[in-house]
Amino acid sequence: MAGIVIVGAQWGDEGKGKVVDLLAERADLVIRFQGGNNAGHTIVRDGVPWKFHLIPSGILYPGKLCAIGNGVVIDPKVLTGELDDLRAKGVDLSGLRISANAHLIMPYHMLLDHAGEAKLGRLQIGTTRRGIGPCYADKAARLGIRVQDLLDEKILKKKIVAAMEPKRLSLRPYAKSPELDLQSMTEDYLTYGHRIAQYVADTARLTWDVLDHDGTVVFEGAQGTLLDIDHGTYPFVTSSNPVSASACTGTGVGPKDIDEIWGIAKAYATRVGAGPFPTELDDDLGVTLREAGGEYGTTTGRARRVGWIDLVALRYATRINSLTHLAITKLDVLTGLGSLNVCTHYRGAEEARFDHYPYHQTVMHQAVGEYEQLPGWDEDISGVRDERDLPQAARDYLAFISDFIGVPIALIGVGPARDQIIWTDAGRSSLAGQALPTDGQQLDPV
Ligand code: IMP
Repeated sequence: MAGIVIVGAQWGDEGKGKVVDLLAERADLVIRFQGGNNAGHTIVRDGVPWKFHLIPSGILYPGKLCAIGNGVVIDPKVLTGELDDLRAKGVDLSGLRISANAHLIMPYHMLLDHAGEAKLGRLQIGTTRRGIGPCYADKAARLGIRVQDLLDEKILKKKIVAAMEPKRLSLRPYAKSPELDLQSMTEDYLTYGHRIAQYVADTARLTWDVLDHDGTVVFEGAQGTLLDIDHGTYPFVTSSNPVSASACTGTGVGPKDIDEIWGIAKAYATRVGAGPFPTELDDDLGVTLREAGGEYGTTTGRARRVGWIDLVALRYATRINSLTHLAITKLDVLTGLGSLNVCTHYRGAEEARFDHYPYHQTVMHQAVGEYEQLPGWDEDISGVRDERDLPQAARDYLAFISDFIGVPIALIGVGPARDQIIWTDAGRSSLAGQALPTDGQQLDPV
């Protein structure tokens, strides 16, 4: 058996979807453990792009068990929309399972997310406005509505009334909004319940069963380590724990069920929304990098902030997640940029030097990256499939990152297509890599 966790090692959007997609082919179960439809990724199959926000993209493999774990927050309107879309395209949904314990995003959560951001004005977090924060807040306040509540009209209504009661004041500006009408909200949610009932399951037990039968489970994270509500750049974070430990609480397994923890990082850095970003490039080079990398959000379409790779933050993510392997994505985007900066420490107020990620918010806001400059390369690397065929400068760049954080690089992304990847020796000998065909070759593109 193997439990393999995939987490974002930066601020999200690292290309986790592509790695999960690669591993999903041989996995027996893919299960998401946190976040909601604030996440999103695009999978390209036979030149056709598929967009996913909630359902693991592994669903494209017919009959593959794909689960939404208890730690995820589900907007049932988005979920049923995704189901309709997949069904219309002829995708077999028989492998889908949805945790009965997952919490639901309600119409008032979205209104409160909008209102909260509007109230913060200049200080806003830049949330995706999908209701994620208010939904997790209700979960913690024990006022949440869960998937299982959709199957009982009386309970559902009672819980909606109880959840809305303490929000009366904040929701007053929306009092006449049809979305908040108790009767129609209840009816809408009961309808969602009917539509997803066949997929509702005890996903913790399902995960144990797969592991007990020597199966491989891929635990799919969303967002990234530095957006973690406990360990990220609070308050400029999401409202869940995108770190590896959350794979346990968000699905119902213990740490001993986890064998490998893969961190995914871009060859540079990006961030959406507000908050500290010590290596940010807000100059022409930043614009070039954004365009070269197509750095616009899948979920919101927002332009992402871009910068140099931040090894202080990456080493921090290594420790927080206990990373065993690193995948570096979008290495090809750095081609032709000239010499490359890698951030090895921060400079703070009064010239203070920080070799470690500062825990204090004020320090973090003032931190500016300081760099080691490494040679770049001009050769097109998008067709390279063996690390030994990469230009020496690219190999040195990767070696510098790996040595600095003390984690082997297992996988390298050199282009958007599914086969534009390089499995390194470390990757091939990993549990995840052992699921590859025995001749050690890469998976055939589907
Ligand atoms: P929320 O998760 O919508 O509450 O947004 C909180 C912060 O997390 C904002 O800065 C968002 O831009 C960021 N965020 C949430 N989901 C993602 C993601 O999937 N990728 C990148 N940033 C995200």
